[in-house]
Parts: sequence; C-alpha cells; structure tokens
Amino acid sequence: MNDLGAIVLAAGKGTRMRSPRSKLLHPLLGEYLVYYPLRALYDAGVRRLVIVVGHGADEVRAAIAGMAFLSDAKIDFVVQEPQRGTGHAVQVALDGISALEGVKAPPREWVIACGDSPHLDDKAIARLIEARRGAKVVVLAARVADPTGYGRMIEESGRLERIVEHKDANERERAVNVVNAGAYAVEHAFLSAAVKALQPKNAQNELYLTDIVPAAPAAERKLCVADAPECVLGVNSQHELMRSTALVQAAIVRRWHEGGVTIEAEDVTIGPRVTIDPGAFIQRGVTLLGATHVSAAAVIEHHAHLDNVRVAEGARVRAFTYAEDSEIGPRAQVGPVSRLRSGSVLEEGAEVGNFCEVKKTRVKAKAKAHHVSYLGDAEIGSGTNIGAGTIICNYNGFTKPFSRIGADVFIGSNSTLVAPVNIEDRAYVAAGSVITEPVPSDALALGRARQTNKDGYAKELKERLKKDKK
Ligand code: UD1
Ligand code: MG
Repeated sequence: MNDLGAIVLAAGKGTRMRSPRSKLLHPLLGEYLVYYPLRALYDAGVRRLVIVVGHGADEVRAAIAGMAFLSDAKIDFVVQEPQRGTGHAVQVALDGISALEGVKAPPREWVIACGDSPHLDDKAIARLIEARRGAKVVVLAARVADPTGYGRMIEESGRLERIVEHKDANERERAVNVVNAGAYAVEHAFLSAAVKALQPKNAQNELYLTDIVPAAPAAERKLCVADAPECVLGVNSQHELMRSTALVQAAIVRRWHEGGVTIEAEDVTIGPRVTIDPGAFIQRGVTLLGATHVSAAAVIEHHAHLDNVRVAEGARVRAFTYAEDSEIGPRAQVGPVSRLRSGSVLEEGAEVGNFCEVKKTRVKAKAKAHHVSYLGDAEIGSGTNIGAGTIICNYNGFTKPFSRIGADVFIGSNSTLVAPVNIEDRAYVAAGSVITEPVPSDALALGRARQTNKDGYAKELKERLKKDKK
C-alpha cells in the first residue's frame, strides 16, 4: 500500500447547493459529507491522502483534521484557487505534492475520489484498485435508472472510449445509462502527463478529469462496474443530500438489524460511527450520533437524542432525553425529559430524572436525583438521594467551583447548594435549606428560617381585612 495514494477533490464551490458553506461540510447523519469518501478510502487501506481544498479551504481543512479515524494517515492539503474543474484539481494536487519537501518518490498509483460521494464504499474502492492491474486508468461506473447529470461512459466494441458530461452529450450519448461514479484508479506517470495535456473544450469551460481517459492506449483504459449502483450517486443539491441521507440511513439500520439490534421504526437517525450491541432496543424517533455506543439489553426510549454517549449494559434512557459527551453506566436510568451535558457520568444503577439537568458531574453508583434538579460541576456519592427541586448553584458569575457531596447523603427537597459545597458522608440536609457552609459527616444541616405559629391569628387577620374592604 506504500505505492498507493489517494487524491480527494474537495475544492469545488458546490454552486447547486445554493448555500454559503462548502458543499462538503453539509451534514449527513451528524458527519460532514466529505467524511464518507474519506472513510471508504481509509477502510480500503489507503493511508496516504492528498486533499484538494479551495472553496471554504480553512473550514474544510479544520473539519478533516478533526476526524479521529485519520490519525494514522499521512494527509497533505493542497489549495486549488481558482477552481477550474476536476482535471485542474488533480493537476494542482500533483504539482503540490512534488513541491512538498521530502516527497522524492510519489506513489506509483493513485485512487481519485470526489468529496461529494457519500455512497462510495471500501469494497468498491478495493475492486477499483484490483481492476487496475495491466491498465493505466480504471473508472468506477454503475448502471442507473436515471443518468441525468452524470458523465456517460461511451464504449465502442466493448472498450471504454471516453466519458461525456451530461452538459456536453448529444441525445444518443444521453441515452447511455452507465455513468461515472467520479472514482478512478490511475498510474502516476500516465496521470501526471495526461492532466498536463487537458484542454477546456466543453460547455463549462473547465479542465475535466474525465478527459484523461482517451489519452490511455485503448487496451489500458477500463471500466469497473460497481456491485451497488448507488455508489455513483453524488450530492450536488440540497434535495440530493436529503435523498442520500435516507439511503445511507436505510443501509445503517439494515446493518444493525442484521447485527441483532431491535430498531422498531424507520424514523430513527443513526450516524455511521455509532456502534450497537446485539440485544439493544432502539425505539422510534431516536437519534444516535457521533461515537455513541449502546450496549446489550440497554433501552433507548422514543425521541431520545444521544451524541457521543456511551450507554452501558441494561441502562435505560427514557423518552425525550438529550445527552452529549456523557456516560450512562450499567443499569443506570435517565429521563424522561432530562439533559446530560458534556462530562456527565452516571455510574452503575444511578437514576436521574424526571426533568433533571446534569453537567460535568459524576453521579456515583445507585445515587438518585428523581425530580427536577440541576447538578453542575459536582460529584454525588454513592447511594445519595437528591430531593426534588435541588439546585447546585455552580456559577457565581465568574467561576464554576467544584462541589462534593459524599455517600449516603440525604438532600431534602428544594435545597439550594451554593458552590463550592462539601457535604460529607451520611449527612442530612433539611428541605428548603440554603447551604453555604461545609456539612460534616452524620450531621443534620438546617439552612432555613425557623417556623413560627401564631394561634388564632388567621381568623383575626381575615376579619380585619374584611372590615378594611368595606
Ligand atoms: C463529476 C464528473 C462526472 C461524474 C460525477 C459523479 C467531471 C468533469 N465530472 O461531475 O463525470 O459522473 O462527478 O459524481 O469530473 N472539485 C474540485 N475542484 C474543481 C471542481 C470540482 O475540487 O475545480 C471537486 C468538488 O468539490 C466535488 C468533486 O470535485 O467534490 C466533483 O465536482 P462536481 O462539480 O460535483 O462534479 P460533477 O458535476 O458532479
Ligand atoms: Mg458532484
């Protein structure tokens, strides 16, 4: 694989999206569009990537640099400015890498892929690489029902002659329904000479990468027809992005169904990096994004939204819970209608909700906050009970001090714990307290005004008020 590199075309404006941001940064199931072809190349074993950026270059570069799975890949970014077509993009990529210091010997072979191809998969790329043996250039193609907008593969006596773009094609050529997926395997020496010779003789006045095909000897240019026809689909408009989202989603759901996961309805949103163990139960309307993991026997109730959340075995996430960057331990429960913000950890058997918010807080084993509480920047000891309406006042307008509540503590309802608080093991905080001082272990803390009763005074008061009204 040392002799193989990939060039990914990611500089285009994406004019047909009619959106100010780069097409490749539009979201598809919680990932950027450009994640998909990069992932396919990586999964096919490619570890060397040259990425052509241009429109929105800084954002595209930052987005790709943030993709953790690429951490062991060698990535070079090359800027294409202005963008004069896919052939020009490859010219710029090859010039860019030969100019890079230390690049003495470029790979002998390139895979070229478009950043707007979310259905390209590692199997298709592997077949493309395999098909190049004995050829200068191999083009990935598929037979589709509606070829509108794609480059048509023009064959003569069973050989690939050239590729004609939709805009440049005549009626007979438009009738061809074998189309270009925009992915190629090409020998370096051939590619480098062929892109230099490109001419912008077409409807868009661009340098088309597809025009390298006729430059190869007839016997050394080939088609590789993909098993799955959808792999050719590119995203060029908002509507196509929605169509691709639905197709990618259906494939992900099918994969988890085959993996023994119960997903009860089609209206779920499950991203490509999510993992789910057999025996998990995902109810309707659920959203699972990022690197979320759901373990066996866990239940994610309807309309819960989890982004980068680890859900351990037997845990239950009740309806309408919204959680991010958090951990839900074995047999723990959260919700309904609760929020876990970044850095929250519910340990084994902990229970949070109804209507609770937790932020950067560890709720230790079997601790409970069952009703309408806010727990922020704190640690709650095991077996502790947080009464209804308890609030940790974690923000003083400047800093967010850390609070510690020990094990087997009882916090009475409607308590206000002003951070930083330190409430030691087995302490008892009376309902309605405002706690501003440390509470030693086994102590009872009362932080409220004492109740006084004035006998008979209610009757007297009412009579006086009645008289005043007249
Ligand atoms: C291209 C192919 C077409 C194929 C289709 C598959 C050409 C001429 N046409 O058409 O045969 O059927 O893909 O989806 O290659 N880009 C750059 N720099 C540029 C222009 C484009 O980096 O100057 C990038 C874009 O960001 C995009 C990719 O190249 O990721 C493809 O460009 P796009 O304009 O979408 O080409 P298509 O019209 O879809
Ligand atoms: Mg396209």
